[in-house]
Amino acid sequence: MKVLVTGGAGYIGSHTTLCLLQEGHDVIVLDNLMNSSSESLRRVEEISGRTVDFREVDLLDADAVDAVFAEGAVDAVVHFAGLKAVGESVERPLAYYRNNVVGTLNLVDSMEKAGVRRLVFSSSATVYGASEHVPLIEKSPMDATNPYGRTKEQIEDILTDLGAADPSWSIALLRYFNPVGAHESGRIGEDPRGVPNNLLPFVAQVAVGRRDKVMVFGNDYPTPDGTGVRDYIHVMDLAAGHLAALRFLARATGTFRWNLGTGRGSSVLEVIEAFSTAAGRQIPYEFTERRPGDAAVSYADASAALAELGWSARRGLAEMCTDHWRWQQANPYGYQHEPSF
Ligand code: NAD
Ligand code: UFG
Repeated sequence: MKVLVTGGAGYIGSHTTLCLLQEGHDVIVLDNLMNSSSESLRRVEEISGRTVDFREVDLLDADAVDAVFAEGAVDAVVHFAGLKAVGESVERPLAYYRNNVVGTLNLVDSMEKAGVRRLVFSSSATVYGASEHVPLIEKSPMDATNPYGRTKEQIEDILTDLGAADPSWSIALLRYFNPVGAHESGRIGEDPRGVPNNLLPFVAQVAVGRRDKVMVFGNDYPTPDGTGVRDYIHVMDLAAGHLAALRFLARATGTFRWNLGTGRGSSVLEVIEAFSTAAGRQIPYEFTERRPGDAAVSYADASAALAELGWSARRGLAEMCTDHWRWQQANPYGYQHEPSF
């Protein structure tokens, strides 16, 4: 199969591109590198021994997107490209709606023109908002609490309407829980720019000495140790979920939504402990105020993905931390050689 991967130079996209190549698919990556480096793709080529057809294209440039599809047969699209920082989305909502929603409209317009109607979209557990009816099931109402989450909700609605209007489309809306970890080689991984917003990359930067300590946002939640609970999922398990979705879409039309999580929650303190074990050093932390908008507990009911895709996450928290640490230790500044604080 020839698969076009938007955002393929990014964190989840690079791991999924690797899995696609390793399964024998041909991959075109479309990315404008606004939050990534082409070095990730060079390393994907190094690990896989295969070539990635990379196009530095912005989804907001509709003609350039059309031109990629006009070149030849694409069988399916996996659409990762988007902005993803919750706090930034509150400060720059228009940039988020434009990039994520308009970018997706351009993509599906080009797909329609080219007759490509198979799409896997990166949605997020953020669409469930602060719902505390855990585990979260796909039928739980969407109720995002910030502009980033609302772009995901709006894109889900747009794609659902598209699938209803034209039943020849095959669309998978994948709601990721908390992706962490790295490929076991330690050659590719998450490379956040500036101060990481998310827990694992922050913990990893403390472990490697780039930051002093982890600030734990709240220790008075109604959870066993008072800290927030999330469903962390290994990025390689997540990548495998995309391949399972592509296999499913090859034999079904319609619009489908699946949670991709482990179904198991871990607290912030459990993560710090597991990472300390993986890194062989105690990670210092300090409790501070709750972060506004954070839910106490979020984890998936991932049984639909198991029943319908035959997919489930295989790797546990210890392996997530070991792999994340291997990547961080070997690449303390990610794909760059110089520190960026
Ligand atoms: P990432 O930032 O590493 O990757 C996104 C990629 O998209 C980057 O390479 C970026 O350069 C590219 N991109 C952004 N806008 C573009 C545009 N207009 N044109 C072309 N390329 C563009 O992020 P990630 O963590 O790999 O996330 C991938 C997707 O998964 C995103 O849509 C994100 O919202 C979603 N998601 C991520 C998480 C998470 O915690 N990482 C959780 C749930 C959902
Ligand atoms: N946390 C800390 N200190 C930090 C960072 C996070 O204590 O420095 C805590 C948070 O309060 C939360 C947990 O660690 O309890 C996880 O926080 P993350 O920021 O790593 O993840 P979130 O669940 O808040 O959100 C992330 C993405 C969202 C996405 C969601 C589900 O930021 O965009 O996962 O995929 F929607």
